[in-house]
Amino acid sequence: MNDIMKYIRNLCLLALLCAVLSCQERKPSSVGSAPEIERRVERILSQMTLAEKIGQMNQVSAGGDVSNYADALRKGQIGSILNEVDPVKINEFQRICVEESRLGIPLLVGRDVIHGFHTVFPIPLGLAATFDPALVEKGARIAAVEASAQGVRWTFSPMLDIARDPRWGRIAEGSGEDTWLDARMGEAMVRGYQGADWDATSMAACIKHFVGYGAAEGGRDYNSTFLTERQLRNVYLPPFEAAVKAGALTLMTSFNDNDGVPSTGNVFTVKDILREEWGFDGLVVTDWNSMGEMISHGFGADRKEVARLALEAGVDMDMMTYGYISHLEELVRSGAVRETAINQAVRNILRVKIMLGLFENPYVDAEAAAPLQYAPAHLEAAQRTAEESVVLLKNDGILPLSADKTRTILVTGPMADAPHDQLGTWAFDGQKEHSVTPLQALRERFPGRVVYVPGLQYTREHKERFDEVTAAARRADVILAFVGEEAILSGEAHSLADLNLKGSQSELLACLAGTGKPVVVTVMAGRPLTIERDLPNCRALLYAFHPGTMGGPALASLLYGDVNPSGKTPVTFLRTVGQAPLYYSHNMTGRPYNGETLLEDIEPEAGQTSLGNTSYYLDYGAYPLFPFGYGLSYTTFAYSDIALDRDEYPVDGTVRVSFTLENTGGRDGTEIVQVYVRDLVGSVTRPVKELKHFERVSLQAGERRRVEVEIPVADLAFYGLDGTKKVEPGDFQLWVAGDSASGEAVGFKVK
Ligand code: GLC
Repeated sequence: MNDIMKYIRNLCLLALLCAVLSCQERKPSSVGSAPEIERRVERILSQMTLAEKIGQMNQVSAGGDVSNYADALRKGQIGSILNEVDPVKINEFQRICVEESRLGIPLLVGRDVIHGFHTVFPIPLGLAATFDPALVEKGARIAAVEASAQGVRWTFSPMLDIARDPRWGRIAEGSGEDTWLDARMGEAMVRGYQGADWDATSMAACIKHFVGYGAAEGGRDYNSTFLTERQLRNVYLPPFEAAVKAGALTLMTSFNDNDGVPSTGNVFTVKDILREEWGFDGLVVTDWNSMGEMISHGFGADRKEVARLALEAGVDMDMMTYGYISHLEELVRSGAVRETAINQAVRNILRVKIMLGLFENPYVDAEAAAPLQYAPAHLEAAQRTAEESVVLLKNDGILPLSADKTRTILVTGPMADAPHDQLGTWAFDGQKEHSVTPLQALRERFPGRVVYVPGLQYTREHKERFDEVTAAARRADVILAFVGEEAILSGEAHSLADLNLKGSQSELLACLAGTGKPVVVTVMAGRPLTIERDLPNCRALLYAFHPGTMGGPALASLLYGDVNPSGKTPVTFLRTVGQAPLYYSHNMTGRPYNGETLLEDIEPEAGQTSLGNTSYYLDYGAYPLFPFGYGLSYTTFAYSDIALDRDEYPVDGTVRVSFTLENTGGRDGTEIVQVYVRDLVGSVTRPVKELKHFERVSLQAGERRRVEVEIPVADLAFYGLDGTKKVEPGDFQLWVAGDSASGEAVGFKVK
């Protein structure tokens, strides 16, 4: 094909891409109706030997030479591979399966496409900070278009683990501490990955890690959790249930043991709740060797026993334990497991492959895949998402910066030019060569005016003197310091016991502040760090949860006011790590904290014998540095005239709350309006408030708007003392505010 033909073909492909991205309704599924799919499943199943069935239940990590797996593929001993993304190799994997195995069943190719494939979006915690499900859905759709074009048709995302302890490194990969926000983000990603219906750009979502993984004791990854059934049902399970209802095709069990039972062998959560209560007939896969780890947990004596336990729980596919492929045939022969259980697992696997159209079209066009990667529309979406994901935590008015008043700009800090690290954790396929860093973006915007002196080469570096950078600071009109943590300091297995800025970063900021020049700090991190001690050393602070490929242009746009920040904290920011876990939707307790006596209030000789007598810390109190849902703007917003349409509601009613929102500042801006509700008295104690609605409202400077929100009373249901889920009549309070710590409560009754 000559260059002209290639150019024309690429134009057609980009037109197709725009059509795919813009259309909401997609063409009907090309693989038939549900009954037709089930008939196909049964037809294939009926032809399979026991060994071939078990082969479908075996997933193998297959990075490397295809020939290493050819024999097993021909024998039908592998049903899925992960960690191969080269379309040429994937085609060869598929060719061997389809053309050289007895039944020609195609492979399901999986990958951790967690926040973008090649075009990397902000880490999921940053996606959550946008409070913009529609935008997050679009980003997931882009990830699916890029990945599916290379043959990846299954992503191990979204991660729905509620995380309330920032010591846990995987807080980076989820949507933070709140059940409602997590559920909305999970639904959006499922829709984005899978698409409104099934076609060649669809990528099966995998909701994970089921369940409770983020409650690891001590915030230490893989550690045990001790969640009661009520806590599971009221806090940790609802996002998974919402994602199942959104049509998630697959689910992954988690590493943790909860209340002594590892999730991969947990009959109660997987079989009783997921399969039977929720009717989930999708594919359940283990986490990496989580089946085998049940031996380490002390839940099974050997690989044969843990294979049996996983199958009994309802797990369909084994990721990298080789437990199923090694022992299931023997277990069936011995009568320890029934072949009917294996049949059910294989049905769930075949159904996914059929719905993805893999039988009709197992191959991809490697050449056609290339122009879709990093397409301009993708990069634009990634930049817009990064802009919405950044949270403005402090601003004394210095932001937005004026180009005229910042003729000489000092850019400093270890995260100013870190193309790999700004991608964040779980960005396997994002190539740092495509990243645009803050330094690059600012140099492009202000040629010849940016002075770059990093001060520290990496965040953990310890230095005693900063002569060079403070000398440069004295010659600058503004200092833009980019600090935080490298990507490796968050993510799987990367928990931290100390959340302060690492190394000498705080000392660097103090030195810079000491020059008397204005310092604007941007923190890039995978979690909320404890930055209280750094706030006095800056005029303004932007918090960017590793912002992805286009983090640099996004931050430049925010710093210079092309874009007004709108992000809000998806997780509570602690004053010190010793406060963990601390989250807004806590219980009231019998002795709620009300801001009283702290260490510095104690008179030395007063002979006091008792202080406080409430639930708090003498040295740090019990209030966070920044609450959940918090974020500043370059303008200001005022809420007024909050009114409910009634004083009391039936349990099947709808609360209609209206309020006036006014942009009281001098700039157009977007406010993320939040509605919280509290059930004052229940058959069990209830949180002091819970988010039940949020939406982005954009107002021009000076604009006022009457906003109306509907909250179905049914959304206030919870699992009470009798273990059933229902709305309990009684008194409630409702807040409409711009964060979880603001606003005045209005009351209503449910009869
Ligand atoms: C990892 C993670 C899981 C990921 C899987 C495959 O250990 O826990 O989230 O999807 O293995 O990479």
